[in-house]
Amino acid sequence: MSQSTTGDFSLETDETVWQAMRSEMLLPNLHMDHAGVSPWPDRSLKAVVDWAEQAAVDPFQASMAGYSRADQVRGEIADWLGVGNLEICYTRNTTEGLTHISEGFPWQAGDNVVVPADEYPTNLHPWHHLRSKGVEVREVPSVNHRIPIDAIEKAINSTTRMLSISFVQYGTGLRADLAGLGKLCSKHGLFFTVDAIQGLGVLPIRPRELGIHALASGGSKWLLGPQGVGFLFLDQAWREQVRPISVGWHSVEEPFRFRHELPPLAASSKRYEGGTINPGLVSALGQSISFLRQPSPVQWASRIRMLTERLAGGLQAMGLAVISPREDGAWSGIIAAKVPGLPEVEYSGWLKKLREMGITANYRMGNLRFSPHGYNNLADIDRLLGAIQRLIEN
Ligand SMILES: Cc1ncc(COP(=O)(O)O)c(C=O)c1O
Repeated sequence: MSQSTTGDFSLETDETVWQAMRSEMLLPNLHMDHAGVSPWPDRSLKAVVDWAEQAAVDPFQASMAGYSRADQVRGEIADWLGVGNLEICYTRNTTEGLTHISEGFPWQAGDNVVVPADEYPTNLHPWHHLRSKGVEVREVPSVNHRIPIDAIEKAINSTTRMLSISFVQYGTGLRADLAGLGKLCSKHGLFFTVDAIQGLGVLPIRPRELGIHALASGGSKWLLGPQGVGFLFLDQAWREQVRPISVGWHSVEEPFRFRHELPPLAASSKRYEGGTINPGLVSALGQSISFLRQPSPVQWASRIRMLTERLAGGLQAMGLAVISPREDGAWSGIIAAKVPGLPEVEYSGWLKKLREMGITANYRMGNLRFSPHGYNNLADIDRLLGAIQRLIEN
């Protein structure tokens, strides 16, 4: 399986593969909001239930089994991303992963971090919170819903230490040119941080090959996992320089050798975990990732592109203005659109009516936002388009 030369990821996969994926999804309604919060495959639900049933009656065994399962899942995540398992730590969400970086990075007063201006608050607040340490935040405005690399380069100066960007912008669906940005960071000697939550799961991303030093994600969007669990990849070359912000019994090399003095910190990213993790959620996340690993990353991406092309084309044919970049290298699973002539205050009414028709979508930054997953099919897209047509007519 190779990528096409005319555009990225334009391959077809046998529909039976997707039917099998879809048959594992339990939801009765049509969910078009995977950029918001996602349903889980059956295996992830079972993982939580199995863990809870054991934890309720045999907590010792559930806890021990949970730690060994967490190490297994850690290895699977690392393998999937093409990084080392010592470079992965669990977090509760993207914010926690980014905060390990923002608070632990060896800043000096006068340093700055460059971020796009339209980022989700998760990738803005941790940086603005550094103001008290004398760290400046340099924001790069979007131009026509895109973030030109030369605008990012213009924002970099001699005291810039880091670039932090979302893999996919939550509002517009713009996919960042991570390869180009990785090269830019390397040229200027910057630490490269990525908030991956809006693409990870359906769009390929190999942090080491892209020059990414830290990548954070929560599990509950395109990963089809539970809320309250996520992970951080941190390049091992930076482990000694990024100071753990919450050191607890689990941060050390031998957690079960209890000592009063602080023993050596774990020689892995476990040093950032601090205390007890949630084994049920980690186990469910592992199952969601095993689900996502059945088709290849390129197959998922091709599927997403095919579905979103149909959706964007259908919306445009009905007169909606699709603002999401759709060109090669920039498209994603998010389609944001305006309804010409419809005041923005009416959008929530549209979403409510869609819910009444059994369809969940969302509204962000002044646009309706639709985000189908790869287990959806063309009939789902057509059902959504039909519902929108009815809203336009009424
Ligand atoms: C780009 C981006 N980052 C992060 C988040 C969520 O952050 P957290 O995982 O910390 O809740 C969202 C949620 O919409 C998002 O769109």
